[in-house]
Amino acid sequence: MRMRNKQRKTTILGWNAGSRCSMPAMVWSLVGFLLLLHFYSTLHKTDKAEETRLQMSHHSFQELQVVEEENIQIPPPRRRSPRAAKRRPRKKTTLIDEFLDENSQIRHVFFPDHRSAIDPTKDTGNDSFYYFPGRMWLDTEGIPIQAHGGGIMFDPLSRMYYWYGEYQDVPTFIAPKGLARVDIIGVGCYSSKDLQTWKNEGIVLAAEEANETHDLHKSNVLERPKVIYNEKTGKYVMWMHIDDANYTKAAVGVAISDYPTGPFDYIYSKQPHGFESRDMTIFKDDDGMAYLVYSSEDNSELHIAPLTEDYLDVTPVMKRILVGQHREAPALFKHGETYYMITSGCTGWAPNEALAHAAESIMGPWETVGNPCIGGSKMFKLTTFFAQGTFVLPLAGLPGSFIFMADRWNPADLRDSRYVWLPLIVGGPADWPLEYNFGFPSWSRVSIYWHRKWRLPSGWSDMKR
Ligand code: DGJ
Repeated sequence: MRMRNKQRKTTILGWNAGSRCSMPAMVWSLVGFLLLLHFYSTLHKTDKAEETRLQMSHHSFQELQVVEEENIQIPPPRRRSPRAAKRRPRKKTTLIDEFLDENSQIRHVFFPDHRSAIDPTKDTGNDSFYYFPGRMWLDTEGIPIQAHGGGIMFDPLSRMYYWYGEYQDVPTFIAPKGLARVDIIGVGCYSSKDLQTWKNEGIVLAAEEANETHDLHKSNVLERPKVIYNEKTGKYVMWMHIDDANYTKAAVGVAISDYPTGPFDYIYSKQPHGFESRDMTIFKDDDGMAYLVYSSEDNSELHIAPLTEDYLDVTPVMKRILVGQHREAPALFKHGETYYMITSGCTGWAPNEALAHAAESIMGPWETVGNPCIGGSKMFKLTTFFAQGTFVLPLAGLPGSFIFMADRWNPADLRDSRYVWLPLIVGGPADWPLEYNFGFPSWSRVSIYWHRKWRLPSGWSDMKR
């Protein structure tokens, strides 16, 4: 008898056809099934709507996902006397050697001269709407923009973008330890409504000329300034890397202003949590919480810490991330509920490979998901397009689309370092999906596409906040 029952076919609902089953049980099963169906279709509908929105926004960014190749030829070696050639056989030069050689015959490829400058004072027809990574970039008065190692803040009050960065318009000199340096001049600020034409708002935090013990004395180092707005206090707060000429102070500095265009009052510097802090950034989350990320322990790891409510200090909580990975130049951003970060390796002013990292919680754990650079050439990919990241700006109205901002440093003349801005897109499976969730990689791919020339999707300004 038991055997016969076992062989009976079972329906999906687990109800044995032909078995005795009460009417209420059948009704409840049906109600349950309908509820499940409703729940599933609601979920699916939300997914679909989100998907369509994403597809539309990605569609307008689609032309930017074309892989553009570069074929830069290494020039033939210069002639040497037969005796010199015998004494020291020539090492094969690479494109990076050429990039680092200020007398290279192909210098103009990496640092094109003023004739190709992006100049809003001149009518360049259709070209005026384009970014040209690596070319000289002039402000609305026709003067080269000085905002290196910078970042952009969208000001909710004036509805303007403000670009802050290192103002380096002075000669470069070689410091005793052999490092190329400039005196501190201050933090430059530029404003824009379209992220294309930039008006010089002046030096919003200036160097200290006389007081040699001041953090901002011109003989020191001020790098990577970033500004965020605090809704609770109504203040604009600037954080920056403060150091002495030999990079042994390794601290963060904080300044504050009532206006995005300053002047900013310098408050103090400190080693956060008692640790060294060199390359750094700050990030403001959707809930108004802000965080400091800094390279520490001889740049071997990054530290992340929430800021206090007024954004003027770090809280005692700190997490060590990317331990032993030797990363610097952190640039943090968020897509959906996931946090992403682009970092560089540690090779002074010389370019190196960028890596993207992802985390479900900003305090970690953070996982490395691969090199985000696409296009150019293998060498472009290995050198972050001959540049180093500094900031990632979300494009309002285009979820998953960002501008990756980087510096192409020119250690022979730091003020002539160039800006490399490129489209960054989040989507698709990551290169190194270290973690899997039910067979699907946990992270989306972060892609930065090389373009000699590119523009924001037409009508982007209409989609803005
Ligand atoms: C790399 C850092 O990212 C830059 O901001 C600067 O500190 C240079 N090193 C100095 O060599």
